[in-house]
Amino acid sequence: MENLPRRLANSGAVKIRAKLGTISGGRVLDVGTGPGDFIDVLMKTLRDYDNFIGIDISLKDLESARKKFKDQPVTLVEMNAESLEFDDSSFDAVCISYSLHHLGKISLVLSEMLRVLKPGGTFILQEEFRDGQQTEAQKTNMLQHAWDAQIDSLLGTTHNTTFTKQRIKSIITNLQLEKVEIFESTHAVQCLFCDDRFKCEDPKNEERIERSLKEIDDNLQRLKKISDQETRVRLQKTAEKLKERNKEFGNATPSLIFATGRKAN
Ligand SMILES: C[S@@+](CC[C@H](N)C(=O)[O-])C[C@H]1O[C@@H](n2cnc3c(N)ncnc32)[C@H](O)[C@@H]1O
Repeated sequence: MENLPRRLANSGAVKIRAKLGTISGGRVLDVGTGPGDFIDVLMKTLRDYDNFIGIDISLKDLESARKKFKDQPVTLVEMNAESLEFDDSSFDAVCISYSLHHLGKISLVLSEMLRVLKPGGTFILQEEFRDGQQTEAQKTNMLQHAWDAQIDSLLGTTHNTTFTKQRIKSIITNLQLEKVEIFESTHAVQCLFCDDRFKCEDPKNEERIERSLKEIDDNLQRLKKISDQETRVRLQKTAEKLKERNKEFGNATPSLIFATGRKAN
């Protein structure tokens, strides 16, 4: 029996890891890689793999991934997922994690991912959702995320509020994959490997709250770039409420949908 806190052990994360353990990755494409956290998870959980290519529209977001995967079979490329610079049917698996709500053209990106996936290859999607039964700490995270997304949008970067469970499920269904499996979890599979997994069992743990308050302060700095004073004042007021919410209820990542399926032969 592995050493996991109770809520994490009872979440869907354990089943998701088991599912990933049945997948031979081969040549894997990760879309919207950012700091590369999902590639890290796949390296720890897939049955086997040959190599990873992580792409992101933002070079800045790839910087920490470059350091993390030095000397590993991981190639990181600045690229827009709306127009993937890869041949048709050139990957054994394609993945997108926590990035759907960052996309301006979701259908175009998904069709590009399907184009580069080999027939019989595996599609993997992970995305948090905003509805359903979530704890007050999770609601804090969602409200903070919506505030953060609003600032991004005002500063010119596409960032939507997270989707409903149903919207994510219908996005998966519309891909017309075979052998689709959909999991729901309060915790991400990466939590299983996280050094803070016991601390996070308490959503009001001091370090978590401090980190969250710092994120709010960092975002308040970004507000200076917004020219409309009324908007700035409104967002500053929301920040104060978010800080209070963090102290009262804590902060925890929202629940997520994890899905896998095969491209038809
Ligand atoms: C929340 S991060 C994803 C982090 C990572 N996948 C994970 O699981 O932790 C979303 C990423 O999507 C990227 N992104 C947004 N639009 C994109 C596009 N059209 N093409 C490629 N990457 C894009 C952003 O730059 C950002 O790094």
